[in-house]
Amino acid sequence: MIAVEGLTKAYGSRLALDHVSFEVPEREIFGFVGPNGAGKTTTLRILAALLEPTGGRAFIDGADVTREREKVHTRIGYMPDFFGVYDQLSVGEYLDFYAACYRQPKQRRQKIVDDLLALVGMTERKGQLVDTLSRGLKQRVCLARALVHDPAVLLLDEPASGLDPRARVEMREILKELQRMGKTIVISSHILPELTELCTMVGIIDHGRMRATGSVRDVIARLTSGRRLRITVIAEKDAAIEILEPLPAVKHVQAVNGTIEAEYEGDEVTASEILATLTGAGIRVSSFTPVDGGLEDAFLRATSEEVG
Ligand SMILES: Nc1ncnc2c1ncn2[C@@H]1O[C@H](COP(=O)(O)OP(=O)(O)OP(=O)(O)O)[C@@H](O)[C@H]1O
Ligand SMILES: [Mg+2]
Repeated sequence: MIAVEGLTKAYGSRLALDHVSFEVPEREIFGFVGPNGAGKTTTLRILAALLEPTGGRAFIDGADVTREREKVHTRIGYMPDFFGVYDQLSVGEYLDFYAACYRQPKQRRQKIVDDLLALVGMTERKGQLVDTLSRGLKQRVCLARALVHDPAVLLLDEPASGLDPRARVEMREILKELQRMGKTIVISSHILPELTELCTMVGIIDHGRMRATGSVRDVIARLTSGRRLRITVIAEKDAAIEILEPLPAVKHVQAVNGTIEAEYEGDEVTASEILATLTGAGIRVSSFTPVDGGLEDAFLRATSEEVG
């Protein structure tokens, strides 16, 4: 449904995208992750035929984003990462306006608006001015807005940012419902545990380059081989790191938010030996936990220069 081939975008002398390629088959939910400035918004805007690439090609359901922009616009719903002002329109008027922009016939628009409000759980807000909605509710209206012309593909730029935990869970449920309705969804986000739960595929981008793409499970497996321990010590963190680093089984040690993360090769016996070495050296270990490689791990690996 989405095919991206060697996409490149330069802003002046800055290369924002450097030969990015990936594919998203129909009905997949593709999580697009990467640090700030990696090129996510740039990619989504090119896919939405709102921005011209410098090189490479991209297709939405077979339509070329540079040569068949009209066609692309009818097939995609784009939810930007920033929403503007709403000029004193109520929620209902606002959606009706967008439905009209997308040339939905007048006699059908009322039903479209009501169905979309029901989908995003905003039926009782229909008469409220959009400007007076909370941020999370505005985001729901924006999602509804992206759907007024029933597009096959949804491009969502950080739809869950700024939402409280309950609203994020609700957003996730709405996106799953849209997948069941047959939509293909690309969603950029920094909230990795949620993507793992929601997405069927993932692409990790950094400095304009696609570092890894594929099914969530494959990407995690490819990037996080080996085992990992999360170790908390009382006060002697630096000393503990100095002890861990030279151990032959230990491949990598990193201080992460007051804890130590150590990758090692071996089994439970190896782990118990690592613990014994630390306590034997007088380090007071308060917790020692094996951690599963998740999307967060994969992300940190793929973007390792960024986090040092
Ligand atoms: N209009 C522009 N002019 C110049 N540089 C730009 C422009 N838009 C984006 N950039 C640059 O291109 C790079 C990619 O930006 P982009 O907005 O695509 O990143 P992003 O992955 O969406 O980041 P974030 O997570 O912060 O939203 C950045 O270095 C950014 O500063
Ligand atoms: Mg962005």
